[in-house]
Order: sequence, then C-alpha cells, then structure tokens
Amino acid sequence: MAETTANDVEVATKPPGPDELPLVGSLKEFFEDPLQFYTETADEYGPVAYFTLGGNDFVTVSSPEYVKDVLVNNDDEYVKGQQFDDLMGPICGNGVLLAEGDFWQSQRETLEPAFDPETLSRHCQVMTDYTQRRMDRWTSGEERSVYEDLMYTTLEIAGKVLFDFDVRPLDGDIPAAMETVRDYVARRLWRPVEVPEWMPMPGKREYREALALIDETAYTIIDEAKASDSDQQTVIDLLLDKDDPLSRQQIRDEVFTLLLAAHENTTLSATYTLQLLAKNPYAMEKVHAELDDVLDGDAPTFADIPRLTYLDKALTESLRLYPPVYSMLRETKADTTLAGYAIPEGTTVSCQQWAIHRDSTFYDDPLSYRPERWTDEFEERLPGFAYFPFGGGPRRCIASRFAKFEVKAILATMLRNWELETTLEKIEFKPSISLRPDTDVTMVPTPR
Ligand code: HEM
Repeated sequence: MAETTANDVEVATKPPGPDELPLVGSLKEFFEDPLQFYTETADEYGPVAYFTLGGNDFVTVSSPEYVKDVLVNNDDEYVKGQQFDDLMGPICGNGVLLAEGDFWQSQRETLEPAFDPETLSRHCQVMTDYTQRRMDRWTSGEERSVYEDLMYTTLEIAGKVLFDFDVRPLDGDIPAAMETVRDYVARRLWRPVEVPEWMPMPGKREYREALALIDETAYTIIDEAKASDSDQQTVIDLLLDKDDPLSRQQIRDEVFTLLLAAHENTTLSATYTLQLLAKNPYAMEKVHAELDDVLDGDAPTFADIPRLTYLDKALTESLRLYPPVYSMLRETKADTTLAGYAIPEGTTVSCQQWAIHRDSTFYDDPLSYRPERWTDEFEERLPGFAYFPFGGGPRRCIASRFAKFEVKAILATMLRNWELETTLEKIEFKPSISLRPDTDVTMVPTPR
C-alpha cells in the first residue's frame, strides 16, 4: 500500500490486481464474463483492485467503506467520466445523468419536484390503469414475454406521468429504437479497443436511424407540451419555467435522459422480481396472500402501496440480487488516493453493487432469494453502502422513491389476478450499462 523511499517519505502504491498481458490487460477475462471477473477480482485482490483494459486504468471498489469514500466523502474528486460520456453522450447529451458542476446542480433542483410524494399520489392511477390495459391482452396458458410487456408498460407510464404524452402510437417503434441504441452502445462497450467514430461498425446505420426517431419523438413531446392548455404541470413546464432559459437541445437531452432512465431500470427490476418470485413459490404465495388481504379484490390505490410490506421486501431483495445498475462508473479528476492506494488522474473507478450485494460478510446465504431477511433490525445493522441499488451521495437516483412505488404498483396490479409460471430455468445476463437479460423473459399466466 505504501513504500518507503531512500528519504523515508511514504509513497502510496497502486492497488493490487491480476498479472496481465501487455497492451490488452485483462480484456479477455473481462469480456468473457464481467460479473464473474468483478467478483473474482474482489475475492482475490481485496476491496480495491487495479486492472487495465486495452491500456485504460480501471479500479474496482467492492467494500461499502470505500464506495462511500468515492460517492460521498470525496465525491468532488470524481466525475462521471469519459467512458460513461462516450457511451451515453449520444443518447442523453448533457442531461442531468451526465452533466457536471453547477449546471448539473441547477438541473437536478429543477427536476426534483417531478418526483416528490405529492406528484406520486397524482400518478398512481395511471400506473395501475396502464398496467391493467396491458394485462387485458393476456390469455390463460399463452406464453408471454413479460419483459416486453413491462417495457411497453413502463414507457407508456413514463410518457404520461412525466410529459402528459401518449407514446402508444409509437409503442412498437420507441422500444425498438431504444433497444437498437442500447445494443449499439453495448457493442461499443464490449469492443476491446477504441475504434475511431468515423470507422464503419455493424449496426451503425440502424443506430443513427434509431437516434433520429428518438430526437423526433423528444421534439414532438416538447412541442405538444408547449402547445397544451392542460392544467397538468409536466416536466417540460419545469424546464421551460427556468429563469435562465434552456436551449431546445438541452430540453431534448433532459426529455430523453428521463425517458430512458424511467423506462429501462424499472422494466429490469420488475422483470427480475417476477422471475425470482416465480422461481420461489413460497414467496409468490406470500405476495398473493398479502394482495388478497390488502386489496380485497380491488385495484391498488395510492394508500394501498405502502401497506404491501411483503411485496416491498420482495422488490428490495430482488434489487439486491439482480441490481439493474450493477456497477457505477466514476473517473478521477486528478491524482488521488483511495484506501491508502495511489489512483492516478483519469482512472475509471467502478463501484460494485454486484460484488457487495453478494458479499457473505453482510448477507447470510447471499445467493439465495430471501425477502424475509429485510427486517427493520437487519436494515439497521447493515452498514451504509452494503446495499445501494440507487447509488448514493449527491448523484443518487433522483427517482428512487418514485421508482419503487411504480414497480410495486405495476407488480400488485399484475399479480392480484394472475399466477405466473416461468419458462426459464435460470436467468443469464448480458451486462452493458445496466444488467440486461441475455434472453427474452417469458412466462405463462393463468388467472387466479
Ligand atoms: C428500479 C429502478 C431504478 C434504478 C435501480 C435506478 C438506479 C439509479 C442509479 C444507481 C443511479 C446513479 C447513477 C450514478 O451515480 O452513476 C441513478 C441515477 C438517476 N436516475 Fe435512476 N434508477 C431507477 C429508476 C429511475 C426512474 C424511474 C427515473 C426517472 C423517472 C430515474 C432517473 C434517474 C436520473 C435522472 C438519474 C441521474 C441523477 C443525477 O445524476 O443527479 N431513475 N438511477
């Protein structure tokens, strides 16, 4: 950790890490299975470990204490960074997810009211109605892609509650465009070496077309919101009402940042919770019993959602085991130290939900799905950042409460009337920016 020089001055050394091939570093192991690579690196080299990918410096952080150093105690020493920017910049521009400094702060403050509890109370019915509308297409015994159903549902909800916009005419096109963008982004992420932007890459034309559709949709959303005389305050109104007016491009960046953020991670967490419940029938039975008890045959209301305490634990546990954001990237602004190790300027630092959420130091039988573990006493004992599916510090998810509420409202609406049998033995992942499934997630519904 520290070496002593001839003059007896302690110099921090870089963190331990795997022996690597020159130039390529740990590319092969990382690209074969990043989730396994992260866990094995933590097991073998400890909570702060160093490796390189094609000449770029990486550090993984897999202890709550040092994650807190990065995200909270020394957060001013880090930015989201070039890797994250390169990948998400074409999609989110300078929206609140990627912006930095005073501008980020001002955008965050502008957007926060859209996610407060009062706003939630207005949107519960949209969440349940839109879910029900999709469930109405289900037929007993017919295999469904719940992943796709949830993708459409969350997108329709996001369009309505954030922008008072009906995305249904574009239902098929927008998720497909988002998928194309995400696939292309994932391929760039998985590319072993940096290829200049001008070089042809498979799928680039489709990517550009998808981005054009997304731009067009974002501008339509903005124009319709401007022209609307509805009393409903939308996120666009919040953005248009700023004293220091924003450019049309900046509003587009926020619209698309929110649409992507609102749709992707909620879809993943709802899908994984359904899969885990379907694989653990005792837990599914408890969810059903609670829904019967609390809802008494009716659709869930705003007041019902906090009373669904077992469903809450089921979701909390699913976000532990399969966190949609499984690793969060930061970059050092200047040379710094972490856990006593030297971390040079420009190093990509990855805070590891995946490894920490599965650490037996904090969780008994960590690979099992056990909603019951989430008692008040357990939560009190759990160190900060042993569980952080929504990140932490100033850049914590702006919508964590909103997201949990929405996923619970969707799952309660689905499960109160349906049994679900999974057709997948085991879920495999294709991790990119988020923890995406490698195959479609299908289930067979039967009415209860
Ligand atoms: C279960 C669902 C969700 C999960 C697991 C999740 C997770 C996260 C995480 C881990 C971050 C921090 C990223 C970082 O620091 O690098 C984040 C940021 C963010 N999330 Fe979420 N999120 C979810 C749902 C949502 C929803 C529904 C919205 C919007 C409606 C949203 C909007 C945002 C935004 C705008 C940021 C950037 C905040 C900032 O940098 O100030 N998220 N989310």
